[in-house]
Amino acid sequence: MPAQLMPEISFGGGHGRDGASPFYKRLEGKVAIVTGGARGIGEATVRLFAAHGAKVIIADVEDKLGISVAESLAPHVTYVHCDVASEVDIRNLITAAVTDHGGLDIYFSNAGILGDQARHKSILDFDADEFDEVMRVNVRGAALGMKHAAGAMIRRGGCIISTASVAGVMGGLGPHAYTASKHAVVGLTKNAACELGKYGIRVNCISPFGVATRMLVAAWRGEGEEDGGAEEVERVEEMVRRMGNLKGETLRAKDIAEAAVFLASDESKYISGHNLVVDGGVTAAQNCVGL
Ligand SMILES: NC(=O)c1ccc[n+]([C@@H]2O[C@H](COP(=O)([O-])OP(=O)(O)OC[C@H]3O[C@@H](n4cnc5c(N)ncnc54)[C@H](O)[C@@H]3O)[C@@H](O)[C@H]2O)c1
Repeated sequence: MPAQLMPEISFGGGHGRDGASPFYKRLEGKVAIVTGGARGIGEATVRLFAAHGAKVIIADVEDKLGISVAESLAPHVTYVHCDVASEVDIRNLITAAVTDHGGLDIYFSNAGILGDQARHKSILDFDADEFDEVMRVNVRGAALGMKHAAGAMIRRGGCIISTASVAGVMGGLGPHAYTASKHAVVGLTKNAACELGKYGIRVNCISPFGVATRMLVAAWRGEGEEDGGAEEVERVEEMVRRMGNLKGETLRAKDIAEAAVFLASDESKYISGHNLVVDGGVTAAQNCVGL
């Protein structure tokens, strides 16, 4: 029986560490980088990648948080300080993967910011400096990651995944700068997939609907309001459920991590240039006729 299909025996009980399939590890032997892995969707993905047998490097600017996540999963997970918009940092990050683990198989470009315009939504209040900062992290960061990750993968293949957003699919789902940046991530994904296919490198992105991470919760917090903890998270989840199309489910960071595992694993070996929308159907259609 191929190793990947062997029943999992090492974690004990009915479920794998942090909720991996109890049956097999889908990323066994792979080396992965997750940017923005210190919290939110990135942290959930780090945990799931590690549970599926990958060696993972967290790349983030939140050192304390990142180190604490890495320590909780040591020795499978390590932490590297990296501002994704800095080419020097990205080069060092990829070098760390190649030096410490002999190569790189998966690059999950997930770091992103919403920008302050979440509070000041009108295009009439458009702030060019704030736009530059959102583009710097979300687009320049994604492009630099693709450049250097592809460089490390060119001889052995690999896969690059970015976190885009439903705001990269249609309008009306985020602030202007953020929406522009996520459309750009989807475009970059398609162009890079077009070029890198000949090297066996797959390039895809994931577009989540609302997940009550710090990013979303903070954006919906009223001006001057205190962090409301678990109750506030529940309130945001309820708002997302109300806006959602698919009823009876709550979108959580782990659901996006599951999509990332799929795109990182050999189960998606012929999928490239794809935007995997995880939105319960929100962007599929506008229900104009009251279906
Ligand atoms: N939460 C949502 O509803 C939602 C929906 C669609 C897309 N997304 C996208 O998902 C991704 C993850 O967001 P999240 O919701 O987990 O938010 P989050 O704020 O909880 O996590 C973002 C992480 O990125 C890191 N980061 C920010 N700037 C960085 C930089 N310059 N270099 C390195 N790391 C940096 C942060 O420190 C943090 O750890 C983002 O790209 C976001 O745009 C989120």
